[in-house]
Amino acid sequence: MMTSVKGFKDIYGEELKLFKIAKNVLEEIAENFAYEEIITPVVEYSELFERSVGIDTDIVEKEMYTFMDKSGRNITLRPEITASIARSYIEHHFETKPLPLKFYYFGPCFRYEKPQKGRYRGFYQYGVEAIGDDSPLLDAEVIYIGYSIAKKLELKNVSVKINSIGCRKCRTTYKEKLKEILEPHYDDLCEDCKRRFYTNPLRILDCKKEVPDLKRSLPKIIDYLCEDCRKHFDNVLDYLQKMSIPYEIDDTLVRGLDYYTRTVFEVVSSDLGAQNALLGGGRYDYLIEELGGRPTPAVGFALGMERLVEIMKSQGFSVRNKQLIYVAYQQSAFERAIFIAEALRNYGFKVLLDVKNGNFKNQTERSSKRNAEFTVFIGEEEVNTNTVTVKNMKNKAQTKVELANLDGFFKERKNV
Ligand code: HAM
Repeated sequence: MMTSVKGFKDIYGEELKLFKIAKNVLEEIAENFAYEEIITPVVEYSELFERSVGIDTDIVEKEMYTFMDKSGRNITLRPEITASIARSYIEHHFETKPLPLKFYYFGPCFRYEKPQKGRYRGFYQYGVEAIGDDSPLLDAEVIYIGYSIAKKLELKNVSVKINSIGCRKCRTTYKEKLKEILEPHYDDLCEDCKRRFYTNPLRILDCKKEVPDLKRSLPKIIDYLCEDCRKHFDNVLDYLQKMSIPYEIDDTLVRGLDYYTRTVFEVVSSDLGAQNALLGGGRYDYLIEELGGRPTPAVGFALGMERLVEIMKSQGFSVRNKQLIYVAYQQSAFERAIFIAEALRNYGFKVLLDVKNGNFKNQTERSSKRNAEFTVFIGEEEVNTNTVTVKNMKNKAQTKVELANLDGFFKERKNV
């Protein structure tokens, strides 16, 4: 049997309905915060991710779908979208527009990860990015957007985790301190962390394999922040308080992408299992500069659609289906049936025209199997009297309705 590629999945039925409801809410929230949509390509030159996400990260090291195109260009299916936004910002000279620029996006991403609940190789991200200002108010604003999503969709059991990983200056001091303390325990580290010890010791903090005792004994990065970074972090927390957003400082939160500075955060859900981050993000003040642009501070987050839908499903989010009207007809009334189906669709109803035709009894059975709310019968008599017979499939009541009253009749009975 042919199947979809491992780690990729079809989205259909109820799940797709939740996906679409969620997408509408996400887009509406971003628009209401005056963020503008941007669509960037699914493929980029591999170098973009190597230079942004970082050569020593799991994503670039092990998870990228990278290949040569037919002209020998090294390209990659995007594992995330922030790097593309930064590239686009530089390429189109967005710095000439009023700053901060605010973007939101939605689209597929690809990571060759070990598939498990909440983790796919093909998944959809929604995200927001505010570019061109280092105000802590922007950090708080993007977290506010993430929090508004959870509130609007009435998600339970979600919380905001936040940390600051400082700037180039203070992070270097902290990394050195970390290495100094970890060195005597080097042999106890897992294989990944032995490598991280040299490439990015910060990542050892959020490694799930490390011994909790050792992790507890490590210094906290917020105790090593320079004065500017400390002030910035305090201001972010202050804004969050003023916005009534509950948060928890998590000093092991460092995030798995290299471009972050200062604020990092996640919104996590206890309904998600091991992969509990619904969304994650932070500030990335050096990224645009490192990709060849002017120094440009920025902050944003991305959310995994599959995880959002999973939470909605597990919390019993109910989908309101549009009522379905089934049109049954005698063959001699076919043209009238087409006309009526079209009229009903134009009134805004969802209409299914019977395909097999045959007697009304069989057509009614088919209507019932489709869970139609109403069946409209059109026979010769209905054609001659300019009426239709409508059967309410729930209470079985039948009513003759004149064609001129069709719209009103169904609108009065919307979602009976
Ligand atoms: P990230 O934490 O790598 O950050 O991904 C953001 C979100 O995408 C995660 O919290 C999760 O919901 C979802 N996600 C990631 N990988 C998978 C996967 N394999 N399967 C399903 N869902 C997944 C970023 O991508 C950054 N670009 C976020 C950002 C934006 N930072 C600043 N601006």
